[in-house]
Amino acid sequence: NNNHVNSVRVASPASNVTSELADIDWDNLGFGLMPTDYMYMMKCSQGDSFSKGELQRFGKIELSPSAGVLNYGQGLFEGLKAYRKHDGNILLFRPEENAIRLRMGAERMCMPSPTVEQFIEAVRATVLANERWIPPPGKGSLYIRPLLMGSGAVLGLAPAPEYTFLIYVSPVGNYFKEGLAPINLIVETEMHRATPGGTGGVKTIGNYAAVLKAQGTAKANGYSDVLYLDSVHKRYLEEVSSCNVFVVKVEERLVTVDELINADEVFCTGTAVVVSPVGSIAYQNERITYGNDGVGRGVATTLFCPYQPTNGTHRG
Ligand code: COI
Repeated sequence: NNNHVNSVRVASPASNVTSELADIDWDNLGFGLMPTDYMYMMKCSQGDSFSKGELQRFGKIELSPSAGVLNYGQGLFEGLKAYRKHDGNILLFRPEENAIRLRMGAERMCMPSPTVEQFIEAVRATVLANERWIPPPGKGSLYIRPLLMGSGAVLGLAPAPEYTFLIYVSPVGNYFKEGLAPINLIVETEMHRATPGGTGGVKTIGNYAAVLKAQGTAKANGYSDVLYLDSVHKRYLEEVSSCNVFVVKVEERLVTVDELINADEVFCTGTAVVVSPVGSIAYQNERITYGNDGVGRGVATTLFCPYQPTNGTHRG
């Protein structure tokens, strides 16, 4: 799968004795928390840098009632997945991008953050410690949830004096109850997900609490999720409560032969042919090829065969 071109290998079969899988029903995973064996914890004081973290048994954490995260929402989260492949490898998709996003968010929320290397190492350690919870190939993935929070006590509004970076994991299947079948969205016209100057551009926990009302109403009315519009023009698509949104637009116009060079994907359609991805087109002694055996961006293969699993990773 193209998604794994930039993936990081967490473990290879040769370097790791394959542990036994946890004894759960791997065929019916949804997107709910399943407690696993270990979580990762690292703490530091305001003004310091994170230095050393450790794995602990998964369980409850202790917080002061006046922790910054509980009182003023000083917190961020991330989400990434580990996949078990048929060859026994365990792969992560671009974890450094999650680390970079966490660092950008931490800057906005006045928190210290782990370095990219610390983040990746912590993710790797947590995944390996919970290896038996990584679903078999094709059954789902191990969802990895890093949290960064102001765990120190504050009363007046100020950055917390202490910070905790924590990672827990849970095996997951499809997010929506529809599985891989199409979902039904409703556009929200009153409530907004992000505002200019606000925190919509970072993955702070408060952004998610703010959409629960619209999401609840949508679900009560039979929709899968809510699509938000920008708060200024109330016209432009922003995102869905739980994911990004992409729109594939077909424009009917003349296409020059030169444009073929820049196309990401070309496909033919017809009653007989149905949908046929094009792998290459020869033109004036040149051969223009389309990546991944003509699958290109996967518009033809995924749009016209929507029930194929795509392994897409939401980076909300
Ligand atoms: C993620 O894909 O990690 C998200 O942000 C989704 C989350 C709201 C469940």
